[in-house]
Amino acid sequence: MSVTKQVARGRLGAVLCRVLALLALVVACSPEGDSYVWALPEGFPEPRVPEDNPMSDAKVELGRHLFYDVRLSGNQTQSCASCHFQELAFTDALPVSVGSTGESTPRGAMSLVNVAYTPTLTWASPVLRHLEQQALVPMFGESPVELGLAGLEDELLARLRAEPRYAELFPSAFPDEDDPVSLDAVTKALAAFQRSLISADAPWDRYEAGDTSAVSEAARRGGEFFFSEAGECFHCHGGFLFSSSVDHAGNVFDQATFQNNGLYDVDGRGAYPATNTGLYEHTAEPRDMGRFKPPTLRNVALTAPYMHDGSLATLDDVLDHYAAGGTVTTEGPNAGDGRTSPNKSLFVHGFTLDEGLRADLHAFLEALTDEGVRTNPRFSDPWLRPLGE
Ligand code: HEC
Ligand code: HEC
Repeated sequence: MSVTKQVARGRLGAVLCRVLALLALVVACSPEGDSYVWALPEGFPEPRVPEDNPMSDAKVELGRHLFYDVRLSGNQTQSCASCHFQELAFTDALPVSVGSTGESTPRGAMSLVNVAYTPTLTWASPVLRHLEQQALVPMFGESPVELGLAGLEDELLARLRAEPRYAELFPSAFPDEDDPVSLDAVTKALAAFQRSLISADAPWDRYEAGDTSAVSEAARRGGEFFFSEAGECFHCHGGFLFSSSVDHAGNVFDQATFQNNGLYDVDGRGAYPATNTGLYEHTAEPRDMGRFKPPTLRNVALTAPYMHDGSLATLDDVLDHYAAGGTVTTEGPNAGDGRTSPNKSLFVHGFTLDEGLRADLHAFLEALTDEGVRTNPRFSDPWLRPLGE
């Protein structure tokens, strides 16, 4: 555990804090000993944090325990981590996820890495804007059932109260509460843990920071194409998040955005399959048909299959999709030509993908993988270790 993390803990922390201050070491610790230090690399702004849920190490630690705890499902078979695996950058390798009672979700699990910076949550909701609020969806949602906790709120809190670790973790995360074990505390701690999932140490980051040996020649060429007007990728996947839908502390513009990248056209007028119409599902505006949030491409090599419904199995399929200017579905209920959809963004216009460019784009997308995401112990399952390690 890091020194700063230890000092943030309780009375021992306060004592250590004074000792360290005497030694004139630069450690950030408030008089209460609970200030949170973001491990932010160059170029990363501070995430926006709701005023009523400030970050603290104790809250992140509680959130980590809850994230990996199967008590959070009705039948105690699933936790958040059952669909958001650390080694897969918090996705689950399935086209669409399967909930605790066997029901499929209409869409695939999304990476939670750098989720602190996304202004809207899930593939296409314009209204889910806070992680505190979003956590209630997998917990209590009934269509589809994911964790299956509807009607079991008291049972959930009783289970949590019965776990010895939580007798320590809840009060240290919420020291001002008389009864710290509450649903409000659960969603706040889950949100704090998810905001702590910052990743910015991909080879491409090191290259941008000046280490020219961090990526191959091929990756550099792929990056040039990605950021060019020929590739157009950067319009929707640009910036430090590799998504144009971005937010951070101090940002004054609403940069939430939803785009149609030509995946389907089932009726010749741009319709998407009825189960997944994107932003249209929320607005009923015809122009919003098939518009989804451009996902971050950080760690994208770990997050197959791709798109909201997992319909593109590999990165090669994705490259073929963009090179063709959309996807043609030849048979079945979703048959149609996404390339000619009237709703498609003009930035998805196709390009010639020879084997050289394919290899270059592959190398570039692979250079966005931060291996630390998979190995960082602070992101991992805490139940496998003694408390505090
Ligand atoms: C059954 C599988 C499953 C479980 C369990 C699950 N998720 Fe998810 N998660 C998904 C799917 C599928 C999506 C995409 C949902 C959509 O677009 O409607 C998602 C999306 C998200 C997002 C949005 C990310 C973004 O970039 O917009 C967050 C945040 C999230 N989940 C957090 C959680 C938390 C916290 C838990 C536990 C309380 C949890 N999930 C449990 C499958 C799951
Ligand atoms: C007009 C905006 C736009 C442009 C331009 C664009 N994308 Fe996308 N991208 C999206 C959207 C929106 C999605 C999600 C679509 C969906 O799920 O239906 C997406 C999804 C992806 C995915 C899948 C990610 C995942 O987690 O499933 C990859 C990979 C990707 N794009 C790469 C690229 C590359 C490479 C380029 C350039 C050749 C590019 N994109 C250009 C908007 C865009």
